[in-house]
Amino acid sequence: TSLHTFLAALPKVEHHMHLEGSLEPELLFKLAAKNGITLPVSTDPAFASAESLRKRYENFQNLDDFLSYYYIGMSVLIDETDFEALAYAYFTKASSQNVRHAEVFFDPQAHSRRGVELSTIIKAFRRAQEKAAHDFGITTQLIMCLLRHLPLSEAMETFSQARNEGYYDDGTLAAVGMDSSESPFPPFMWKELYDAAKEFGIRRTIHAGEEGPPLYVAQALELLGVERIDHGVRALTEGDDALVARLASSKTLLTLCPLSNVRLNCINSISSFPLRRLMDAGIRFSINSDDPAYFGGYILENYCALQDEFNLDIGDWETITRGAVLGSWCSEERKAQLL
Ligand code: HPA
Ligand code: ZN
Repeated sequence: TSLHTFLAALPKVEHHMHLEGSLEPELLFKLAAKNGITLPVSTDPAFASAESLRKRYENFQNLDDFLSYYYIGMSVLIDETDFEALAYAYFTKASSQNVRHAEVFFDPQAHSRRGVELSTIIKAFRRAQEKAAHDFGITTQLIMCLLRHLPLSEAMETFSQARNEGYYDDGTLAAVGMDSSESPFPPFMWKELYDAAKEFGIRRTIHAGEEGPPLYVAQALELLGVERIDHGVRALTEGDDALVARLASSKTLLTLCPLSNVRLNCINSISSFPLRRLMDAGIRFSINSDDPAYFGGYILENYCALQDEFNLDIGDWETITRGAVLGSWCSEERKAQLL
């Protein structure tokens, strides 16, 4: 049996999803029209329609090729209603796939450089979170991600701003992370930011080992003191036994994204996803959608793609989803409900 029905009904938690990456082409075009944003159709015919854009998403060369579309796409997000619509659409879709708890990323620097205030984004997301909690019972947390292709000084400024405006103290923001291009920007570059976040007493994660080497995962753990690694797939496909053992013994959560890895050519196909090695090593991990509007599926499609390739049994999935709950950053009370 395919277990797809079981997987659809299985209560899930998601830890690696960029809200801007849930912008479906149809909403992208609708908001572009509403806000008078010109898409670069004269230089890139993929922007002719939602259909041609979605087709283009099937052929990303690598992370940076994807990111160029991701940043253009999110440029249609201008006012509070846009950000609220974006987040509520994701919470609705995730709830329909039985996601009960989601810890989601957003990229404030990608909006502030276009003149969109942090407070605008926060107000919009809070409203979507409250509405989704009321409508679907889903619990959600926001992880502010800083961009690695911008200077450390700008990451520090945005972090300070979020701290000074009270978004960590009042619980609006649950953690800090980093994303965007990886290979030219190793973890050691960001030590000052992660030291400040640790000093401030908040949760810390970073994208590492997606395109970057296993060394970047080790550096993130040792030098930055992160508690979680987003992706980290290359620690398994190319890492040594010591790194794998370290991830297992420290119970570091890896937030893995199989369909994303295939679309961005981080792995050749789902069959190269290191699922067996992860399970055999006893690593704590979760399965996630990353940028579902760009990578051909939400969380359930990621679960099903793994199931079709690896033919797991119900016990395997219970182990995976239990580890995911234990690695979540919600309250112990909420974890107990999710287990
Ligand atoms: N990697 C790095 N940066 C990102 C990603 C990703 O998968 N998605 C959105 N920003
Ligand atoms: Zn990501």
